Amino acid sequence: MSRTEALPPAIESVVFDAAEIGRTVARLAAAIASENVGEPITLLGVLKGALFFTADLARALPAELDVRIDTIAVASYGDAKQSSGEVRLLKDASESVEGKHILVVEDIVDEGLTLTYLLRLLAGRRPASLRTCVLLNKPYRRRVQIRVDHVGLTAPDSFVVGYGLDYQEKYRNLPYLARLRDDVIGGLRRE
Ligand code: PRP
Repeated sequence: MSRTEALPPAIESVVFDAAEIGRTVARLAAAIASENVGEPITLLGVLKGALFFTADLARALPAELDVRIDTIAVASYGDAKQSSGEVRLLKDASESVEGKHILVVEDIVDEGLTLTYLLRLLAGRRPASLRTCVLLNKPYRRRVQIRVDHVGLTAPDSFVVGYGLDYQEKYRNLPYLARLRDDVIGGLRRE
């Protein structure tokens, strides 16, 4: 983002700009590539938040790697402050995961409920391997402990939007990760 470009009024500040996100995606892609030599890998992007991350990660992987792309969509019940703990499947993967090397690609892990739900669901389908890659780790309010294989960045303890992450479906399109102004969200703290 150029320094002269104005931020939307609801945005407090940029936390990670497009260049930093790009460097992070490249680092994650290099680590993933080194673990998947000679084996096809399916990136399973978790919609909607991981839409851009999945697309950028896929293109950052070496061309010689056999990369497949699929998506799955989930949502958690609850308000903006806290989820109810119940996650529901909105759209399943298009392809079978059985016998495949699956990398779940998430934009953010916060309470950990979404990833826990997904890993349980997918593990029951007998993939050859099941790993996780998360762009943003937000460790402050974990409700379940989970292991993430590839972590990009640590999120601040504030409401983050942009690069796929939304507030009431807005701001996903911002090319950077940004902090939302506190008065916009009424002091609530959830990405
Ligand atoms: C967000 C985010 C993760 C999940 C993480 O998705 O994209 O999937 O929450 O939260 P947790 O670790 O606290 O469970 P959301 O349900 O907001 O849907 P979206 O991806 O469509 O924005």
